[in-house]
Amino acid sequence: MAILMDQIKKSFGHPGTNGQNLVLKGISGEIKDGEMVSITGRSGSGKSTLLYIISSLDKPTSGNVLIDGVSLNKIDSKELHRFRNQKMGFVFQFHHLLPELTALENVLMPSLKADFDPNRRNFALSLLKEFGIPEKADQLPSQLSGGEQQRVAIARALVMKPAFIFADEPTGNLDSANGLLVLNLFKRINKEHGTTILYVTHDQVFAGMATRQINLVDGLVV
Ligand SMILES: Nc1ncnc2c1ncn2[C@@H]1O[C@H](COP(=O)(O)OP(=O)(O)OP(=O)(O)O)[C@@H](O)[C@H]1O
Ligand SMILES: [Mg+2]
Repeated sequence: MAILMDQIKKSFGHPGTNGQNLVLKGISGEIKDGEMVSITGRSGSGKSTLLYIISSLDKPTSGNVLIDGVSLNKIDSKELHRFRNQKMGFVFQFHHLLPELTALENVLMPSLKADFDPNRRNFALSLLKEFGIPEKADQLPSQLSGGEQQRVAIARALVMKPAFIFADEPTGNLDSANGLLVLNLFKRINKEHGTTILYVTHDQVFAGMATRQINLVDGLVV
């Protein structure tokens, strides 16, 4: 059980024209369960593109991704939605919290689509407590600091107890103290929950906190 990348290529633009832009040039590899892997590389090197393909949010032009033995190019979109909701948590640079919902309600959002679990609310509250913001549960996002909002977004990513967390520049919008806090949370989640974490960062210190680093140059892993 793991994530397998098999010759992933991605181009943008129209095939066969000069305008075509081959961004990923054939990436293969494996991310094992329990790994915490950072993706680094220059701006435009394809980090986000690779993360979105691995996490099923985008499709490769050719090649394939297998997650826990499930081939992402074979699964239909309804099944994919369920798979994503149950197995994957996402964290982005901008947290995308819903402004009209409280912190706790935002954390619970992914569980609303899933089967009703009476313990979910307590688990969501325990995450906010673990992240040092239990007293913010009933506040709106606009009443929270950037770092607090990002912690709410991470709690939301964890509320379904996913096997995988995917994060694109999760600290990009934060100062270094809050960035470090987020990375330390990732490390703890990775250790204590065994969650596999894949994150994009351009910060060398944050990248170094991973158990393994992937560096993208010219559409290939070096
Ligand atoms: N939807 C798209 N249509 C066309 N080109 C795209 C699209 N998405 C990405 N690209 C191009 O693919 C290349 C890689 O983009 P990507 O967003 O993966 O880079 P990145 O490494 O995440 O960069 P950054 O560090 O700036 O976020 C860039 O040249 C970008 O312009
Ligand atoms: Mg990017």
